This record gives sequence, structure tokens and C-alpha cells, in this order.
Amino acid sequence: MIRLTAAGPAGRRTVGPMNALLDGKKALVTGAGSGIGAAVARRLAADGTAVYAVDLDAGRVEALAATNDLITPLGCDLSDLDAVEGLPRDVDVLVNNAGRQHVSRIEEFDPDTFSNILRLMLESPFRLIRRSLPHMYARGWGRVVNISSAHGLRASPYKSAYVSAKHGLEGLSKVTALEGAEHGVTSNCINPAYVRTPLVEAQIADQARTHGISEDEVVEKIMLTPVAVKRLIEPSETAELAALLWGPASASITGTSLSQDGGWTAR
Ligand SMILES: NC(=O)c1ccc[n+]([C@@H]2O[C@H](COP(=O)([O-])OP(=O)(O)OC[C@H]3O[C@@H](n4cnc5c(N)ncnc54)[C@H](O)[C@@H]3O)[C@@H](O)[C@H]2O)c1
Repeated sequence: MIRLTAAGPAGRRTVGPMNALLDGKKALVTGAGSGIGAAVARRLAADGTAVYAVDLDAGRVEALAATNDLITPLGCDLSDLDAVEGLPRDVDVLVNNAGRQHVSRIEEFDPDTFSNILRLMLESPFRLIRRSLPHMYARGWGRVVNISSAHGLRASPYKSAYVSAKHGLEGLSKVTALEGAEHGVTSNCINPAYVRTPLVEAQIADQARTHGISEDEVVEKIMLTPVAVKRLIEPSETAELAALLWGPASASITGTSLSQDGGWTAR
């Protein structure tokens, strides 16, 4: 399944305006089979970068790669830290994106699920950053983009593992920024509110059933309550914000968290 060629036959590549900073560079995006990760992988390829697209669901990243010869699909369970150690190290732009949600009161929260979420959303980013930094340092340039969440900065009840993992990712990102600065490596978090992806669509359906209300009401009355801009975010908007972090204005943006939360954290 691994196809390492960055350039293939013309016709299936969707390359937009090239970003000179990415010339000859490689990116790795986790959770690239769906939602935000797929949009980010497409955005990187549009900038002309070869992209390793990693996902638990190998079929999804293979389907993504079938649309663009710059994308190489890699099936991997990122909650299996030994498997993470088998992923490529020659990464100039690392996008830690893969994630999952589990909603339960703390006293009923399954400890194995808690550990799995922490491995997937905090320990695997640590392993991937650790593996990529020597390559980035050797080249004097690197970009670590961590897809955090409004829940990296704020808590909600019943999401203990997710909120803990995202808050941990915020800390990991800042330490990476401080250590990487002298080597030309930046590290930042992106903090969206609700983005229209399968992860959120499943929550909408679940909550509609639980509360006995329509899916539109779940979005309006539950999800959009904390935000001032009353709409879901599209994955392409988050990918466009990520592109800022490997673009020409990115060199001094580091150790920070870019909110795309419709005003949630302004309260
Ligand atoms: N959708 C939102 O509203 C929202 C808001 C803020 C932050 N985020 C964050 O954005 C990231 C992407 O979320 P999304 O909404 O695009 O979700 P999604 O469910 O659409 O995509 C997540 C991808 O991660 C993959 N994945 C899950 N477990 C994995 C594992 N063990 N190993 C490898 N891959 C695995 C899934 O197969 C899937 O393709 C997550 O970290 C999420 O926390 C999402």
C-alpha cells in the first residue's frame, strides 16, 4: 500500500499555487481519512507537498490517495505506540490531527477508553514529534501543527479524556515551540469549535436520540450555545487556517493557540 513517489503521472494532481517554503518537503497528517485531516492533506498537496496520509481506516486514505498522486496512504492504529514507531521520520510538516470522542460521567468512564484516548491524542503526537524533530532540525526548518480544540482551552462535562488529552497537547505544543525555535521549527495548536465532520455528525445524531429533539435543534440549542457565530465550521476553513502555519507569515508564530471558535473563548 505504501507508495513513496511524490510525483506521478499528470492528471490526478490537484496542485494550486505552489508554496516555495514547501519545495521538496514532506508532510505527515494523522487521521487523514476523514473530516479535518482529509481537508488538511488535500490543502498540503495543493501547495505541492508530498503527504503521508495516516489513518486507522486504510481504505479511506487509499481512496484519498487515489485522487492525488502526491498523497501516500498509510494504515496505522495510532493508539498502538509500537505501530507509531514504524511511521516515516522524514517529515517537515507534521499535522497531529487524529482524534476520537467518548462521552461519559467520570465515575462511569471506562479506564481503558480513557487510556486509549490519551495514547491516540497525546502520546502518539509526542512520539511523532520526537521522531520528526531530528529531520526538521537537520534541515533547519519544520512545522508542527496540532489540531487541538476549543476543548484544549475550555472544559465541558462528560468529556474528561478528550479535554485532558487536548489540554496536554497544548502543553506539548508549547514545549516543542520552545525547544524547536533555535532550529527553525515552529509548533502551534489550532482550536476549532464544532466543525462539520463525521465525528460531529455522529454526536448530533446521538444527542437528537438522547434528548428526543431534531438534529437541527441539537446544533442550534446545544452545540452553538457557547459560540457567537451561529454556524458549524467547514473542514476546509480549518485546513486554510492550518496553511497559515506553513506559509510565508509563519516563522514567528509559535507556541500559540489559534482559536477558530466563533467567539466561544471570548466569554
Ligand atoms: N469536528 C469538530 O467539531 C472538531 C472540533 C475541534 C477539534 N476537532 C479535532 O479535529 C481532529 C479531527 O476530527 P474530525 O472532526 O475531522 O474527526 P473525523 O472522525 O472526521 O476524523 C478523524 C479521523 O481519525 C481517524 N482515527 C481515529 N482513531 C484513530 C486511530 N486509533 N489511529 C489512526 N487514526 C484514527 C479516524 O479513522 C478518522 O478518519 C480531532 O483531533 C478532533 O478532536 C474536531
